[in-house]
Amino acid sequence: MSLVTSKEMFEKAYSGGYAIGAFNVNNMEIIQGITEAAVEERAPLILQVSKGARSYARHIYLMKLIEAAVIDAEESAGFDLPICVHLDHGDSFDLCKSCIDGGFTSVMIDMSSKPFEENIAVTKQVVEYAHDHGVVVEAELGTLAGVEDEVKVKAEDSSYTRPEDVQEFVERTGCDSLAIAIGTSHGAYKFKPGTKPQLRFDILEEVSRRLPGFPIVLHGSSSVPQEFVDIINSNGGNMPGAIGVPEDQLRKAASMSVCKINIDSDLRLAMTASIRKYFNEHPADFDPRQYLKPARAAIKDMVKHKLVDVLGCSGKA
Ligand code: G3H
Ligand code: 13P
Ligand code: ZN
Repeated sequence: MSLVTSKEMFEKAYSGGYAIGAFNVNNMEIIQGITEAAVEERAPLILQVSKGARSYARHIYLMKLIEAAVIDAEESAGFDLPICVHLDHGDSFDLCKSCIDGGFTSVMIDMSSKPFEENIAVTKQVVEYAHDHGVVVEAELGTLAGVEDEVKVKAEDSSYTRPEDVQEFVERTGCDSLAIAIGTSHGAYKFKPGTKPQLRFDILEEVSRRLPGFPIVLHGSSSVPQEFVDIINSNGGNMPGAIGVPEDQLRKAASMSVCKINIDSDLRLAMTASIRKYFNEHPADFDPRQYLKPARAAIKDMVKHKLVDVLGCSGKA
């Protein structure tokens, strides 16, 4: 099977009350850990590539690794794993065009920090080019706090999505899915220690009422498992007060109109925890395969848990 867009995935997820996991990829071990989990769970999958990932690993390497994962799933498990390759947080028409021309099946154009009319104009331009090439487009309204690609948005500069804007935005841009801000944020420090993390389900409900049947996307949806934070902190790391989105709230969002849930920080935490622990326990080892093998396994276990217990998309491919 070739790579697919997210269109059919989202239609099924919307009606089935589950969400597709969109995991950020940067290298071979991350791609293998995620896709092995998806194959074993028979789960549809979105692999997403940020601008930073693209300049770290280069487009061609990530593309070929993802193509290899599709072939490997077919050959080793006899399973047609539906994979959508998505550009995460595209910040210009040119970047989106380059990814579309380079074989991605989905792109995000993120003009959420720009004024409404500018967001509409650039998103519309990307949608026209993407749709001409059989590619789907995610756009964003509202601003998340946190760090992406060296751009840091302070909590006080973030803003929830205004439900009264969404209909006009979707109609005028023609985008295929919409990322909204309801209290999630990027990175490992999403809520202040001692406060109760709470997503704004009232905003999500109002957005869905105004956009019936339309797929909604949640960014910044790592749950920052405390077992990883503890392993990191007890093996030489320093991540005090790292807190994520409670998994039961993500599960609830997935049962509503949220069809795509973005996870990157949890991959980083799983990998870093495993590598720190390995080095602490095996100070004389220096073969990268020795510490990357358990790191890849840690990613696989974490992703399986998300697919089964959080996203609810196990068995849906
Ligand atoms: O939302 C941002 C993702 O976590 C990607 O992060 O831009 O550092 O690759 P990155
Ligand atoms: P996290 O930092 O919560 O993993 O969010 C990732 C994300 O939104 C990628 O676009
Ligand atoms: Zn994001």
